[in-house]
Amino acid sequence: MPSRDFAARAAELRVAINYHNHRYHVLDAPEVSDAAFDALVNELKSLEAAHPELATPDSPTQRVGGTRRADFGSVRHPAPMLSLDNAFSADDVRAWYERVRKALAADARVQIVAEPKIDGLTVVLHYENGALTLGATRGDGVEGEDVTANLRTVRTIPLQVPVVGPARKGRAKRAEHERAAPEHLVVRGEVYFPIDEFARMNLEVVAAGGKAYANPRNTAAGAVRQLDSKITATRPLRLFAYNIVELRGANVASQWEALNYLRALGFPVNADSKLCADVEEAIAYAERWLKARDTLNYEADGVVLKVNDFAQQAELGTVGKAPRWAVAFKQASQEAVTRLLEIKVNVGRTGVITPYAVLEPVRVGGVTIVNATLHNEDYIRANDIRIGDRVKVKRAGEVIPQITGPVLELRSGDETPFAFPTVCPSCAEALERAEGEAAWYCVNPLCPAQLVRQVEHFASRGAMDIEGLGEKLSVVFVEHGFLKDVADIYTLHKHSDELLEMEGFAEKRVENLMAAIEASKGRSLARLIYALGIRHVGGTIAELLAAHFDSLDALSKAKHEQLDEIRGLGDEIVTSIVDYFQHPAARKLIKKLAKAGVNPQAAPRAAAASGAFSGKTFVITGTLPSMSREDAGGFIKSHGGKVTDSVSKKTDYLVVGEAAGSKLDKARTLGVPTLSEDELRKLAD
Ligand code: IVH
Repeated sequence: MPSRDFAARAAELRVAINYHNHRYHVLDAPEVSDAAFDALVNELKSLEAAHPELATPDSPTQRVGGTRRADFGSVRHPAPMLSLDNAFSADDVRAWYERVRKALAADARVQIVAEPKIDGLTVVLHYENGALTLGATRGDGVEGEDVTANLRTVRTIPLQVPVVGPARKGRAKRAEHERAAPEHLVVRGEVYFPIDEFARMNLEVVAAGGKAYANPRNTAAGAVRQLDSKITATRPLRLFAYNIVELRGANVASQWEALNYLRALGFPVNADSKLCADVEEAIAYAERWLKARDTLNYEADGVVLKVNDFAQQAELGTVGKAPRWAVAFKQASQEAVTRLLEIKVNVGRTGVITPYAVLEPVRVGGVTIVNATLHNEDYIRANDIRIGDRVKVKRAGEVIPQITGPVLELRSGDETPFAFPTVCPSCAEALERAEGEAAWYCVNPLCPAQLVRQVEHFASRGAMDIEGLGEKLSVVFVEHGFLKDVADIYTLHKHSDELLEMEGFAEKRVENLMAAIEASKGRSLARLIYALGIRHVGGTIAELLAAHFDSLDALSKAKHEQLDEIRGLGDEIVTSIVDYFQHPAARKLIKKLAKAGVNPQAAPRAAAASGAFSGKTFVITGTLPSMSREDAGGFIKSHGGKVTDSVSKKTDYLVVGEAAGSKLDKARTLGVPTLSEDELRKLAD
């Protein structure tokens, strides 16, 4: 082959390799087998070895790394690499948007681009006439380090843009993305370490006796700043490109166009980016996205919201080190480290013993945490959690704080393993652990701690709803011996004199409490069944049982087979119900309740089927003036209606109380009629 043919062949191979590399690593849609790809690379390598003058720095053969440096040169960025201001709530975002609107013309339409905020390492990539010429770290924002050789090894960073398909017969029309190379382009993006690859690498490292890497972000940063680019090349780093810093030779007028342009050139652009018409759409999207982010294969610490229009961006400008036109919407930190001072155990109403940590107070996601659940003995052991440890505390949404594990590096050696108690901390009876279960139980039916929890549950809003009888009073009444079981609540009036002598019990308070107890006698059968606190019997199952039995007495006599026939009752539930009522203490309790006047009968079922609401579907939202949601649900059902959780086209009415939220918006959008509590009652008449 004449030498110019070698040169032509090398150029052809580079195009083909870059193209297939892009299909494989960026688009996740390879066209050729690995072997065919390797053959192209090997051919190019041999050509370059035989003709060293053909080996260029932007050749894909350089992806494997090669240079080793003593240190990195420094690079001055063409423009300051700004950082972002944070917003920790939807209201913070709204306030930011208001400031943006105020700074722009009054009638300006302000679209927003929402993009995942990748938690990796910022890189700045320079392309001249389409060829990657320089790759730098962010450094202090003004100057960074020249890590070009390392970044060339990152398979998703294009060495040449646009990435074009190899010339083929019949490929007359160029695809849309196969446009001309921009004369000059500087792109900002984030290099990250995919989570699955990180986990895999750590497994290997630990198996080989090494020390695990701390987290994907630091590992990515370490790999990019490796002095030996051969080592960087062995790391499965990836890129997301998200900003154009400089561009000559093409026109892009907005962030949304910029993302599309970058994607067309062959850069990996996050597919979860979204163009939003206004701030509310952006907030809704960001909140939804933040909830789902744990399922992704990269770490993201928020959503970046950017004013879309570049002219508007320019008008808004920068304050300090952050642009006014963008904001990072983050969830307030949900994890913190604190000292575990003590482990205590709690006795639940079914006798289950739950260990929990007493913590040095720490703020997590805006709330001060002093306790966190430790689930059970196995959890403590599996995570090697010891008293005195520094532990990681996590809060996810509204759930109770969890301890995810100790920080082993911070151990002093004085930490002590926890010895799980063998007797109940309340009644000192020996604890039992059933085969195959993780939990220990106190099985003493007379255990005072269990009774306190039972009383609390019995009186709670979803159950008998006795206002004023909460945790504190439950403890007081049990400790004073006024209550030996929940039925004793109905004989509390006999202790009125003693109550009046107690601190904090004025006459009015005692009167109110007695009135609330009296009123609870009228609650429905379903509520009473739920109030008993039978294991596995929640509100829905209680409703189901109330629909099949006329009274508590009838339910208590039900045989296993009879319960088995009820659709929706699993074996575990049936066994639990039968076990409960077999207990002599339970039979005694039912009699005592009935004697006290707590003996609701089921609403006649025929009425329900042909009630005023028959065939109608309701949704309830907000706080109603006099009914709890459960009451309203019961009311609707007793008139033959159905209650569901979310508003759709099939919803007939939305019952609206105070502080109604998104359900009301949805109902308005769909044209679903709304009812107040009063209107609901009238409709039933
Ligand atoms: S925009 C002026 N967009 O988050 C533009 N940043 O302080 C500022 N980051 O380390 C950056 N994903 O590199 C932008 N989609 C994204 C981003 C993003 C991650 C990083 C950024 C910087 C930090 C912001």
